[in-house]
Amino acid sequence: MYAIVTGAAGFIGSHLSERLVSQGWEVLGIDSFEPFYPRALKEANLAKLRQMTGFRLLEVDLVEVDWSSLLRNCQVVFHQAAQAGVRSSWGDQFGDYLHHNLLATQRLLEGVRQSPGVARVVFASSSSIYGDAESLPTLETASLQPVSPYGVTKLAAERLGFVYHRSFGVPFTALRYFTVYGPRQRPDMAFHRFMRALRTETPIDVYGDGGQTRDFTFVSDAIAANLAAATADGAVGEAFNIGGGSRVTLAEVLTTIEQVSGRTFERRTGPAQPGDARHTSADTSKAAHILGYAPQVALRDGLTAMWAWSGDLPQ
Ligand SMILES: NC(=O)c1ccc[n+]([C@@H]2O[C@H](COP(=O)([O-])OP(=O)(O)OC[C@H]3O[C@@H](n4cnc5c(N)ncnc54)[C@H](O)[C@@H]3O)[C@@H](O)[C@H]2O)c1
Repeated sequence: MYAIVTGAAGFIGSHLSERLVSQGWEVLGIDSFEPFYPRALKEANLAKLRQMTGFRLLEVDLVEVDWSSLLRNCQVVFHQAAQAGVRSSWGDQFGDYLHHNLLATQRLLEGVRQSPGVARVVFASSSSIYGDAESLPTLETASLQPVSPYGVTKLAAERLGFVYHRSFGVPFTALRYFTVYGPRQRPDMAFHRFMRALRTETPIDVYGDGGQTRDFTFVSDAIAANLAAATADGAVGEAFNIGGGSRVTLAEVLTTIEQVSGRTFERRTGPAQPGDARHTSADTSKAAHILGYAPQVALRDGLTAMWAWSGDLPQ
């Protein structure tokens, strides 16, 4: 089996590629090493993969790819590449979000449209497309009202996938991830920043009153959802919430990290940030029913694994 993983040098894409190769897949990873965060961290993400036979990496921007040749013999495309980050999606950098999230997805969909051998395109969508969700836990049928420019581009890319599905039969499936965490998490994300601060004994910035809640998903659970989405009957043309199974306040997370690490945060408080949803919570019953999805990793266990990993981060 041959799969393409876009964004393979990133947080989720590198874990997914490792899992696929270890299960006997041949994987072509594609990544352009966007400078959103340092290349050294992405090289570290790839270190294990580069030792594995069955993995190749192509360093290229998805917009420039000659898809017809790459997609020959490819069964599944796991499309993880994106310009992530809610806060930097305001202002001048919006063009990057359009390019990496929307135009790159459109080019890929055009390629798949002309490659009938591709059995599935699994797209990394996001809970951010719900914005301040109208109901919690949130069903896939809830209205889609992003509150950040990032969320708007993720929603547009997801909709584009379904347009290609409806019009040309592109076998598109969307996984709406709810805050993914674990070893290799991006350096702009909260848990990564918190753990780095504890290790370097620097203060953390806590935005808002700490009462905001998130559904946190350990990365291995997100990977399991991808593997299931690649083959499950009834998944094509559908979107699925992928959450961690519990909704936790930021204040509770900070306490758990302190317990796991045996260290204490020095906190600086700041105002809530525009673009951040106040609460997220996934109703995963559709994913359970069609993908057999059942999150396995509890928050404390996931944070323990992530804390151990953070010890190897360059200070
Ligand atoms: N991490 C989360 O909590 C989370 C939550 C919801 C959705 N997502 C989605 O999951 C996916 C993976 O997120 P992540 O946290 O691993 O991000 P990441 O930034 O670690 O990985 C994305 C990778 O894509 C690459 N990339 C971006 N644009 C590209 C292009 N045009 N061509 C080739 N490569 C390109 C980047 O260089 C990067 O290595 C993204 O689509 C993101 O929107 C992530």
